[in-house]
Amino acid sequence: MLIKNTLSRFGLFSKLLHWLIAILILGLIWLGWYMVDLTYYDKWYNDSLHYHKSLGILALALALFKIGWQWHTPAPGPVAGLKTWEKAGAKVMHYVLWGMMLLIPVTGYLISTSAGKPIQLFNWFELPAIVDVDEELRELAIDVHFYLAYATLFLVAGHAGAALKHHFINGDDTLKRML
Ligand code: HEM
Ligand code: HEM
Repeated sequence: MLIKNTLSRFGLFSKLLHWLIAILILGLIWLGWYMVDLTYYDKWYNDSLHYHKSLGILALALALFKIGWQWHTPAPGPVAGLKTWEKAGAKVMHYVLWGMMLLIPVTGYLISTSAGKPIQLFNWFELPAIVDVDEELRELAIDVHFYLAYATLFLVAGHAGAALKHHFINGDDTLKRML
């Protein structure tokens, strides 16, 4: 199996990154939804937020790494035989998903580093606060984090639905070449 992408296939590394980031993001949406309703007296109150932040920063690091990787070895073009609107739709959806992969963790970082607090990553090392976040920016970051995270669920449903449609209805290689 090829490590790098070719003009027509995703390489092993791009596939691994795609699925790892997808699992992390879906898991983090669930974890975020679960943790915000916990109270101080719940066993997971502190740990859930600690793991949410650490895994969220890991998702951001993997997304940045994926950008670098795809700059080094570009993603293949769409499979042959797609209509113009399908190619354009896929392109827009992929850009929007890229935006989500970056903006959701960045807004999470801004919420967490407001008041100058650093982030403890898996108790391995600290990520310092590099931006001065005032109360107004913190409120904005909370809202953006919330709306983008839940909107991603709908986007991923559309994205996965399109992949399944290509596989089962069109019978093309779109899904197979990402597996
Ligand atoms: C949070 C979840 C997900 C994110 C953020 C995401 C993101 C992306 C992005 C940005 C691409 C563009 C190719 C690239 O730049 O590497 C892509 C391609 C792809 N994704 Fe996802 N994805 C997610 C989940 C899923 C799921 C659940 C499925 C299938 C059931 C799926 C199937 C595919 C397929 C088949 C492609 C290749 C499309 C093509 O060749 O044009 N993805 N994904
Ligand atoms: C792709 C990565 C991420 C996803 C999908 C995600 C998703 C979520 C979701 C769904 C919530 C619950 C929102 C609500 O129902 O109110 C949440 C809350 C939160 N997330 Fe994330 N998150 C991610 C990354 C991060 C990162 C990297 C950090 C910090 C370093 C972070 C910090 C927080 C905090 C502090 C809250 C609680 C916000 C509040 O007080 O309402 N998140 N996240």
